Amino acid sequence: MQISEALGGVYILDLFGETRIATHPKVSVPVYGERIVEGLRIWDPHRSKLAALLLKSRLAGDLAPLVSELNLRPEAKVLYLGAATGTTVSHVSDLVPRGLVYAVEFSPRSMRDLLGLCEKRDNIIPLLEDASMPESYAPFLEPVDLVYQDVAQRNQAEIASINAERYLKPGGTLVLMIKARSVDVTADPKEVLKAEIGRLEGIDLLRVVDLRPYHRDHWAVVARRRA
Ligand SMILES: C[S@@+](CC[C@H](N)C(=O)[O-])C[C@H]1O[C@@H](n2cnc3c(N)ncnc32)[C@H](O)[C@@H]1O
Repeated sequence: MQISEALGGVYILDLFGETRIATHPKVSVPVYGERIVEGLRIWDPHRSKLAALLLKSRLAGDLAPLVSELNLRPEAKVLYLGAATGTTVSHVSDLVPRGLVYAVEFSPRSMRDLLGLCEKRDNIIPLLEDASMPESYAPFLEPVDLVYQDVAQRNQAEIASINAERYLKPGGTLVLMIKARSVDVTADPKEVLKAEIGRLEGIDLLRVVDLRPYHRDHWAVVARRRA
């Protein structure tokens, strides 16, 4: 294994001739069966859309600006909507070892697994809540540097807007993973994407990345909240 670069906690590796990304584990225990090689957790782009975004940007020679847009300093605060069982949350937790990840998930089944992860990591706050009702978790939250959303819901853009408006610091970053088929299975995915981006309020668009071949009909939208 050869480490070719480390940018804001994101490691770029050459593993058996293939470019891979990894994080330095806050806790050195695998979370979803990922490999830990020479002290680094390999981050699977097929299992995590954030890994796919980072890897695609790296392959396009555009990783450094993306990492700086993401605002993930070691002490950053992140609101993560659609935490599921914590696959991507765990890598975000690695990236902000002195910060906090507020992990919102409304499925009690997924939350059970997520709680296991939170027991091992002291920088994840699990919230069994509905992301479409951001007022319900107001007592537990503070303004954050990054809102990351991956909920695969029909009203994805609206959920992102109301959470960013309420919790994202001015100048903070919104990453929205858009699954076109969750909005409308019959429409042209590119048209759905355009319409969803048009629904985002109070933000300036930074980039839109097609996540193929790792995730079909998914796009990552990166935006900045207006100051
Ligand atoms: C595609 S999965 C997320 C995968 C996860 N982000 C990862 O990369 O490890 C979408 C998750 O969003 C959750 N979800 C959907 N709508 C939600 C809502 N309104 N509030 C909270 N969680 C929601 C689902 O229960 C599901 O676990």
